[in-house]
Order: sequence, then structure tokens, then C-alpha cells
Amino acid sequence: MGVTLNPAQREAVEHGDGPLLVLAGAGSGKTGVITHRIARLCERGTPPQAILAVSFTNKAAAEMAERMIPLVGRQRAEKLWLSTFHSFGVRFLNEESRALGYPGRFVIFDQGDALGLVREIVRREGLADRKLDLYSVHSRISIWKNRGLSPEQVPVTDFEYDVIAREAYGHYQAGLRNMCAVDFDDLVCAPVNILREREDIREKWRARFRYMLVDEFQDTNRVQLDLVRLLANDRHNVTVVGDDDQSIYGWRGADVGNILDFEQHFRGAKIVKLETNYRSHTPILVVANEAIARSKRKRHDKVLRAFKGPGPKVKLTTLPDAETEAKLIAQEVRELENEGQRLGSIAVLYRSNLQARPVEEQLRVQGLPYRLFGGTKLFDKKEIKDAVAYLRVVVQPRDELSLRRIVNYPTRQIGDTTVERLTRYGRAYDLSFMQVLERIDRIPDVPAAAKRGTGLLLRALEKARHGLESGSLESVARTLFTDVGLERHFREDPNKSTQKRWHNIEYVLRSLERFSKRGGKKATLAGFLTRLTLDLSGEKEVAKEQITLSSLHASKGLEF
Ligand SMILES: Nc1ncnc2c1ncn2[C@@H]1O[C@H](COP(=O)(O)OP(=O)(O)OP(=O)(O)O)[C@@H](O)[C@H]1O
Ligand SMILES: [Mg+2]
Repeated sequence: MGVTLNPAQREAVEHGDGPLLVLAGAGSGKTGVITHRIARLCERGTPPQAILAVSFTNKAAAEMAERMIPLVGRQRAEKLWLSTFHSFGVRFLNEESRALGYPGRFVIFDQGDALGLVREIVRREGLADRKLDLYSVHSRISIWKNRGLSPEQVPVTDFEYDVIAREAYGHYQAGLRNMCAVDFDDLVCAPVNILREREDIREKWRARFRYMLVDEFQDTNRVQLDLVRLLANDRHNVTVVGDDDQSIYGWRGADVGNILDFEQHFRGAKIVKLETNYRSHTPILVVANEAIARSKRKRHDKVLRAFKGPGPKVKLTTLPDAETEAKLIAQEVRELENEGQRLGSIAVLYRSNLQARPVEEQLRVQGLPYRLFGGTKLFDKKEIKDAVAYLRVVVQPRDELSLRRIVNYPTRQIGDTTVERLTRYGRAYDLSFMQVLERIDRIPDVPAAAKRGTGLLLRALEKARHGLESGSLESVARTLFTDVGLERHFREDPNKSTQKRWHNIEYVLRSLERFSKRGGKKATLAGFLTRLTLDLSGEKEVAKEQITLSSLHASKGLEF
């Protein structure tokens, strides 16, 4: 925003002391107001180290730091406190570690460590007699911590996971203490507790910051608001910017009430609305305003006007199914390209990542390069590679890489030691890995369970090979995935995200079905795999200009 500020932006930037709420729609220069306001405060004589600005992601915080350099100079920019809530928490706890009450230095547990601790507790305390989705247990604890609830304060329900998480919570906190550890949530919760309980520390930090600024305030949760309130000085020099209509982290405990009720949290707050959008043309904003206005939930009233003025109309098309839609999208992209548009300036957005698949496939058919934002490309996903490996072995039993990939997946008691032994045997008698498996009964020192597992695998593969002579490609593949236990492996896993991965395999099956319909009698499994491989390898050339595929969540703040 090396540009002239509009009057509303200037009002926010020039605001003196006291709480300030900048309410604005997307692309209206909210983040710009923060950076310019910081620069203005410095100009007026506030030392940079007395300014704390909080962004929502590490990427955003780093970007803000970058944007400050031309505004205030490198030296001053380096003294500013620019961070996320979590990185602020780390700095705070480093300085106040003694207040944590730990004997030594604290360690920070990442998500993996935290899940490990939950696993240990569930086992030790005998909280469940079956396999649990540990993530579901931990995320409950996390939400409670972020609501500021202690184990005793957690509301009682009789839903199984709630009950288990409630029992685990106290042990979990004790476990962290025993290991001198803080988890991710503690990075905000612990400073809040310390600031609440220790007046001396509170006074020290309050005196330190003359101004505090928070970006994307609509996404803050309860504890983060508490932190802001505890750090605010007597003058309440707190500036927050946000868009209540862009609150997208409700599922993570973000509380849009923080922005809706800002005037209650900070009495006498000045409110500035930014209603000029610098990103889009009028017709887009007309549709957006209209859609937002129909939302039934409580919101601040505001509109967005396009600085760029009129532009092409928004087109709405209704189509019978996802495949037709994907075809139309690929076709439109092709036309835009022919008109001279750069592919890098085109984005396809959708609500959930599942919807990307048909689009991916059609873009491949058209040979249009794309990148998937915030997700793994479908055909790079592990479960798909595993499923494809099975199909490859059916077509080509000598495909050793694929065979090794699936031999013990899902697990069938053919452990690493056994695989090692079989490999040595093959080398000694000059046999392929498949030939070794076929002879497994005659090989000494192979556990009976491994022999049984191998027998099942080989029979399933053989059955599939025969099936191809008469049955449809799709049903052969489906039967194979069932016979080898792949389907059960995904569907019966208690972890929801594992279950969802089966949908990706279903997608391969449907794509196989479409392939045989199109090709009729000429369609073979080998042909399908070749097409897949060619597509896969074609992708490795890095195209400079790529279409962006992204979920709406992941696209936030990007410009196309
Ligand atoms: N007064 C202005 N004149 C011209 N361009 C502007 C002005 N204010 C902002 N912009 C441009 O508008 C775009 C969006 O700015 P910014 O990222 O600060 O908006 P934002 O409200 O934070 O967006 P988001 O809602 O995505 O967080 C930028 O490209 C910026 O340069
Ligand atoms: Mg912004």
C-alpha cells in the first residue's frame, strides 16, 4: 500500500490513544492500516519496542515485518514486537519461565508429542479398552484449555469421547508439568494465567507496551482475547482490525463475539469502517454483499464498494454433476488461456478439498498445469499410490518396487526380518521377489503367519488376474482391494481422517470405470496404468504458469 490512504484509512492510522476497532471487508486495506499506523506511532515518538503487533499466521507475521522495513527503516523495524500469539507466548515464557514453577527450562511439545502423551495416559489409566482416535481426545482438551476451563470445570456429557477426554485432561496437565513441558495451547494459556495471578509481572508487561495491534481479530479465541485484555494498559491503546464476515475458524474455537462485542470489552472504543475494496470489480462485490447480507447470524452492518469500478459480470452456471462441471471449468480455463490470460492469474476455488478431484482430472486431460494449494495432489497421496501398486502387480508380477510396497501393507505378518530373509534367498537362487513369495512354503525359518499372509495375498492377486479375462476392470479392482484387506484397513480404522482416505481409493475405482466405458473392449488395466504413469511423470516438469486449485479456507488473503 505504497499509495495514498483513503479518508477512512487515514482516520484509523491517525487515531491517537484509546481502543480502536477497524471493521472492514476483504481487500480493503486492513493489514495496510496496521502497518501504516505502526509507522505513524513511531513517527510521533513511540519507541518501536513499545509496540506489539499480532498477526494470525507465521507467514502473515513475517510479511508484516517485511512491510515495515520501508516504512520505518530496518533498525526500528527490528525492534518492533511483531509476532503471532504463539510466538509472543514463547518470548513471554522465556522471560518469565520461573513463574511457570518448573524446576528447569521448559520444553515445547508439538502436536505429535502431545498425542504421544495422550496415548500414554489412555494406556496407563486404562481409559479405553479399544483403539481410540487420540486426536479426538486431544482436540477436546485443547478446546477446553482455550476456553479457559480447568479439568474440574469441564461440563459433563455422556458422549464417550467427552468422558474419556475429561478423565484424561487432569492427567495430561500433570504429565506436562512432570516433564517441564508446555503444549501449543499453553503458549497462550500459560501467559494468561501468569498475568492473572502475578500482579508484579502484569504491571511490568503492561508498562512495556504502549500500543497493541491485532490483525484478523475475528479469528481470535477466548484466551487470546484474555491475553489482549491483560496486556492492555490503562489507556486501552488496543487497535484491532477484522471482518466479522470472514470468521472462518469457529470450528477451532475462534469466537466471532470477540469482534462483535469489542465495545463491551473496551469501553469507548472508536469504530472505523473501511468500505472501499481495492481487490475486485463492482459486479463481484455486488454478489458478495448480497450473499453476506442474507446471512442470518449477528454481524456488523457494512458494505464494500469497488475502487476498480465496473468489470465483467459474475456468471452463475448450474450443471447436472461434478464431472460436467469439471469439464466446463477446464474448457473455460482453456478459453481464457487462448484469450491471452496467464494461467498463474487463474484460480479454481471450492468448499472442500474433495471437490478438487474431478477438476484435477479434467485439467490433466486438457494438459493444463495446476498446483494444489494446501493439500496433496490426488495421485501423489500415499493411499492412492498403494492402491495403484496393487494394480501394477496384477498387471506385472515382476514389478518388484510395487510388490515390495504392498507385500506387508496392510500388515499381514511379513515383517522386515522376513522380507530381508526372502530377499537373501532370492539373491542366492536368482529368483525374482514374486518367485520367492511363490516358494515361501519351502523356505526355512519363515514364520507360519508370514506364510499364511503371503498365501492370501498371492491368491487374491491370482484371482484378479483371472478376473480380468471376463469381469469389468472396476469390479476386479474392487474385489482385489477387499480381498487383500485394503478396504477393511481404511474403513474400520477409528480415525475419521483414515476412513476418509478410502474415498480417495473409491475415486480411483470410479475413474477406472469411466476409463473402461470410454474405451470399451480396448480398455485394459495396463492401458489405464500407463495413462496414469504418463500423467504422473508429465507433472514433474515444473510449469512456470500454473492454475491454482484451492479450498476457500486456504485461499484467504491471496490475490489472483
Ligand atoms: N488506499 C489504497 N489505494 C490503493 N490500493 C490500496 C489502498 N489500500 C489498500 N490497497 C491495496 O488493496 C489490497 C489489499 O490490501 P490489504 O492486504 O491491506 O487488505 P486486507 O483488508 O488486509 O485484506 P484481507 O481481507 O484479505 O486481509 C493490496 O493490494 C493493497 O495494496
Ligand atoms: Mg489482511
